[in-house]
Amino acid sequence: MPNFEKVRENIQKQGFLKVLLNLFESKLKRDWRGFPLLYKAFILFFYTVFPKFMWKKYPTLVLKALELANSVICQNKKLLDLILITQDNPGFIKPLLSFREMGNLYIYAKKAENLPGDLAEVGVYRGGSAKIISEAKGKKNFHLFDTFAGLPKPDSSQDDLLVKGEMKNTSLKEVKANLKEYSNLYFYKGMFPKTAGPISKRKFSFVHLDVDLYKSTKDCLNFFYRRMNVGGVILSHDYNSINAPGVKKAFDEFFKKRKEPIIELWDSQCLIIKQ
Ligand SMILES: C[S@@+](CC[C@H](N)C(=O)[O-])C[C@H]1O[C@@H](n2cnc3c(N)ncnc32)[C@H](O)[C@@H]1O
Repeated sequence: MPNFEKVRENIQKQGFLKVLLNLFESKLKRDWRGFPLLYKAFILFFYTVFPKFMWKKYPTLVLKALELANSVICQNKKLLDLILITQDNPGFIKPLLSFREMGNLYIYAKKAENLPGDLAEVGVYRGGSAKIISEAKGKKNFHLFDTFAGLPKPDSSQDDLLVKGEMKNTSLKEVKANLKEYSNLYFYKGMFPKTAGPISKRKFSFVHLDVDLYKSTKDCLNFFYRRMNVGGVILSHDYNSINAPGVKKAFDEFFKKRKEPIIELWDSQCLIIKQ
């Protein structure tokens, strides 16, 4: 006969979910890290439905279920608050990136702290990914480029799934307001690389590309590659995305005859480290 008094006491102390999970603990199949798969399913279900509640009440369980065990990410509560409860947080513009991609972005932007050179992003949209970079960059200069008026005209042979004007629900004013707490940010509205004149003499430690299109990606690589300091990173979104095949084509062509290997990451990103 279960000791109901004890169960009630535990529920009061630990919460219902934890007690329920503990009851099954020993009998369950586990993932590669030893975390029970059934727990994962439960937690992800509740986290999907009640993200704010779950993150506030059970942060460690949420991190385990999402397989987010990286110490750079997991020790930064402010960053975790940003990337884990974006759906339910009106103060934060959700980036068009997965959890892991947001984590990668932070880790590589943070690494740039130890190198000389500025940071840049082409493809800012509403400022979601720029906010993560701004969290990581410390006092460094960060240059942000976008049309702030939607996607430019795609090259129909490479980018046939994308349409001119997509993602036009943004404005420079909104993005500036979203990033107002950070210093040393410089905004450039219009078509890159036409807008790149003011940074033509700068060197870079970290560049984030998220431009979706073949020609935009090629133009960015042409501009930034020779301006990267040794050890600097160019990280791109959509290297492995079904709806943006022009990005992979541009990278593969550009780096075919260069010494840097293209390193493909989970989920759609790739990066190169300048040699
Ligand atoms: C997918 S969105 C960027 C999303 C953003 N990084 C995020 O995670 O929130 C792509 C952006 O690239 C911009 N873009 C593409 N090619 C561009 C170019 N040549 N010059 C300026 N902006 C460009 C578009 O205007 C669009 O806002």
